[in-house]
Amino acid sequence: MPKIPNPRIRKLRTWFPGKRSSEFIGVDENQKKITLIDLASNDYLDLARHPLLIEAAKQTLEIDGVGSGGSRFITGSRNIHQRLERKLAKWLNREIVLLYPSGFQANLAAVLALADRHTPVICDRLIHHSLLVGVKASGAKLIRFKHNNLSELERLLKKSRQSNPQKQPLVITESLFSMEGTTAPIKEISKLCIKYDSKLLIDEAHAFGVMGPEGRGESFGLKEPLSIISGTFGKAFGSGGAFLATDKITGENLIQNCGAFRYTTALAPPLCASALAALNLIESNPSWGRELKEKSTTLRDKLSQIGWQRPLGGGPILSIILGSDELAIDYQNRLEVHGLLTVAIRPPTVPEGKSRLRLVIRRNTPVQALERLIEILKNK
Ligand SMILES: Cc1ncc(COP(=O)(O)O)c(C=O)c1O
Repeated sequence: MPKIPNPRIRKLRTWFPGKRSSEFIGVDENQKKITLIDLASNDYLDLARHPLLIEAAKQTLEIDGVGSGGSRFITGSRNIHQRLERKLAKWLNREIVLLYPSGFQANLAAVLALADRHTPVICDRLIHHSLLVGVKASGAKLIRFKHNNLSELERLLKKSRQSNPQKQPLVITESLFSMEGTTAPIKEISKLCIKYDSKLLIDEAHAFGVMGPEGRGESFGLKEPLSIISGTFGKAFGSGGAFLATDKITGENLIQNCGAFRYTTALAPPLCASALAALNLIESNPSWGRELKEKSTTLRDKLSQIGWQRPLGGGPILSIILGSDELAIDYQNRLEVHGLLTVAIRPPTVPEGKSRLRLVIRRNTPVQALERLIEILKNK
């Protein structure tokens, strides 16, 4: 009997970049090399190989070296860190921005800064793993509400306030959900947090650069009680590293007391330089986010015209729910031999029975690739 590969066992695959930023090299049915159009990466604005980001990294590399060689409190702080933090704080209209080596670490730090074991932490059911790790590390009680369900959130906030009037709750959500493509009703969530005097942490990892006014995120313009916003440079910013944006008091608390900020090697200077170059580009191209959304809407319309359920949300992530792991892998393979790179997302990343193809539309995704995608998906 031939052995059937277990769809839950992941294999690490090495990807070789193609000529353009939206391309990788793959193989077709006959094992011949082909160019794959990348419909899977989070480089939404095609900045990872942008000449200005590469040039900025090169120049900083010459001056500051590859790594910072120390934590921010030892010898790791450079001028480029401060420039990026100040520029981001201004762009987002927040008092303090602090850099972290990764979004995973930033999220961990954010939860630990806002919650301890006495805090009722009320989270959207689909928040990122890093935030859940933070809640676990804080020792707080995890309470979850159905994805984007405001009435359930309100019921849980009310209950928490009635049973523990002394304990200020913390609400955690994302603005653009990475596996669903949905956006959270941030304004309404913020209003509920005001009503029930709760802290609020929003992870904008997938939103910065593409969602909200001029790509400044869905939380742009929100005032109290937004406690911390978390962002990463690993997605639309085309670089690496991350940041937390907050008020002076919380920021000072993070600087003085946050182990994930103090006891880690400062973000590599060339990555900071590229992130700053990306920020400058995003700022001078305020229509990029809107254009990307328009492109995504066109694809959503086409998918529903050919009989698929319209992918939820309005941003550049389109989830096509297929159900079984096998079916999702089958579609991934079918698209790959036709030169389209998508990735089957399976449990435990998504709930059982909800395996899917996660399609990502980028600023430079060729129209012909999307036409090819529709042709293939016409034959269910
Ligand atoms: C919603 C969300 N938050 C945080 C992260 C972590 O960011 P980073 O890749 O910078 O560690 C990710 C990345 O996968 C994410 O999808």
